[in-house]
This record gives sequence, structure tokens and C-alpha cells, in this order.
Amino acid sequence: MNTVGDKTLNNKTVDDKAVVQEYFNATGFDRWRRIYGDGEVNKVQLDIRKGHQQTVDTVLAWLQADGNLASLTVCDAGCGVGSLSIPLAAAGAKVYASDISEKMVGEAQTRAETALGQADNPTFAVQDLEALSGHYHTVICLDVLIHYPQEKAIAMIDHLSSLADSRLILSFAPKTFAYSLLKKLATFSLAPAKQLVPICIEKPTL
Ligand SMILES: C[S@@+](CC[C@H](N)C(=O)[O-])C[C@H]1O[C@@H](n2cnc3c(N)ncnc32)[C@H](O)[C@@H]1O
Repeated sequence: MNTVGDKTLNNKTVDDKAVVQEYFNATGFDRWRRIYGDGEVNKVQLDIRKGHQQTVDTVLAWLQADGNLASLTVCDAGCGVGSLSIPLAAAGAKVYASDISEKMVGEAQTRAETALGQADNPTFAVQDLEALSGHYHTVICLDVLIHYPQEKAIAMIDHLSSLADSRLILSFAPKTFAYSLLKKLATFSLAPAKQLVPICIEKPTL
């Protein structure tokens, strides 16, 4: 029997998450490491890089507006190469960063050591979103849910919310037919990049 998030293809059960993990440990790793770097990229990738930087800057500004980043614990769920975790740690937040891809985590660790010169903040782990536990002031999950089995996305948002004492910050796009087509065309540099806008869900203080 298939679990939710698995598909049957040519009579084989395909686990969406295993496919994503494999992608971000191989071709996806090369692609996204380049996009989230400062080397030469094609026009579509440059658009994605600029849009992503805007997202990171927006989230940093939201957290800095609180005035005391040094007192915050932050869970960066699906941290990629550390584009957000590293500046957050540099600003004093205590950051727990994790990702399903070992290669992305390895790259994030290297970048953190280069940028911050020390290894204990952020703390990095290779971990699936589902395995996350604990409590954090803020939980952030940027540009990850688009890669997550869509049938499970609502339950995952619920799970991430349960880890957040104060707020959950997410960016996502509903996986419609039009969006999937755009994404496919973008891999061949035929479509403009679409920027995901972050949303912040504040938890009420009782
Ligand atoms: C497009 S990157 C975004 C990285 C980072 N959040 C950022 O904004 O810089 C998507 C990341 O999500 C990770 N990812 C996808 N599915 C995941 C899952 N189920 N659990 C943890 N990480 C996941 C991928 O490995 C990849 O590093």
C-alpha cells in the first residue's frame, strides 16, 4: 500500500522525499550552490538569486525589528547552504539549521566556518523536516515546501508551527499545473523566475 507522498510509476513505488533528497545531493546541489553563491550564472538563475536575497533580507529585517536578535533561538528548517542561518548567527541569534541533503549541510558548514570562523553556531544537522523536534522562538522554512509532497504540506506547516513559541516564517507556492509548467520551463531557461514571498505567522501570546 502506498503511504501519502508516494506515487506509483511503472509499477514501482516512488517516494517523493527520497527523490528530493537524491536531487539535492546531486544535480540540485550543484545548481542551488551556484545560485546561492556569487559566481557566474544564467539570467534565470540570476533572477532567482536576486529574489532569494530579497527574501533573506526581508526575514532578517523582520527579526532585527524585534531589537534583540541575540536572545532569539531560531530553527532554520531546510537551511540549504546556510544563506539565512549564517547572517542570523552573525547577528547573534542561536541558530539550529538542518536539511535533508548531506551535501547542502556540508556546504553550509564550510560557508559558516569561512564567514564566522567558528563552528558551534549555527548548529547543523542532516535531518528531514518531519524529524524536527524541540522549541524555538522562531521557526523559518524558506523555499522548501515547494519540494515537499503537496498532500502532506498542511500537516507539515502544523508540525513546524508546534515547534515555534512565537512565530513561524514560511515561503511557499501552491503546486498548480501552471506553476509546475513554469518550473519545468525555468530549468531550460525559458521562463522568468517566480519569486516566493515569505509570510510570517505570529502566535498569540496568552
Ligand atoms: C531551494 S533550497 C532553499 C534553502 C534555504 N531554505 C534557503 O532559502 O536558502 C530547498 C532546500 O530544502 C531542502 N529540503 C527539501 N525537502 C526537505 C525535507 N523534507 N526536509 C528537510 N529539507 C528539505 C533541500 O535539500 C534544499 O536544501
